Amino acid sequence: MEQIKVLFVCLGNICRSPMAEALFVHHVQSAGLHDRYFADSAGIGNWHEGELADARTRAVLQNYGIACPSVARQIRPRDLSEFHYILNMEQAVHEQVLKMHQSRQSTSQVLLMRQFDPQIGELEPDYTVPDPYYKDDDAFELVYQILDRSCLHFIQHLESKHQ
Ligand code: 4NP
Repeated sequence: MEQIKVLFVCLGNICRSPMAEALFVHHVQSAGLHDRYFADSAGIGNWHEGELADARTRAVLQNYGIACPSVARQIRPRDLSEFHYILNMEQAVHEQVLKMHQSRQSTSQVLLMRQFDPQIGELEPDYTVPDPYYKDDDAFELVYQILDRSCLHFIQHLESKHQ
């Protein structure tokens, strides 16, 4: 069966999307499903191109025993042809990716990550994973918790759709 390719996208590709990628890979590996999926991440901007994820992203993942080898890169038009699913971390990112999607007549499914968060609050109508870049370590822990449960539910969704 063809591998399902999943791309996680945020602004800088050093905080949220590499953490989502790491958690997604961790959970598909734990479930013995790693042959079925390919995951990557990218940013809308190129400010951090070539860098490892933010030290705080790597630290919170390391606390849970999860590696984060991702190197930052900017999203490119061909991603919209190559990836089956594109999961965006916030509305502004989602809008940019949808524009690329429309101009390329892409067949990727472009979704918001928190559509898969079972604990999304009523006060969070924009389905955003809060940007932790200018915040403290607690903000990174919160992002971890959001992405952990969202990735698990996203994987359940994929497994039910692609049996
Ligand atoms: P991310 O966080 O989009 O989750 O990677 C940010 C990283 C860098 C910047 C903004 C957000 N920045 O402005 O450089």
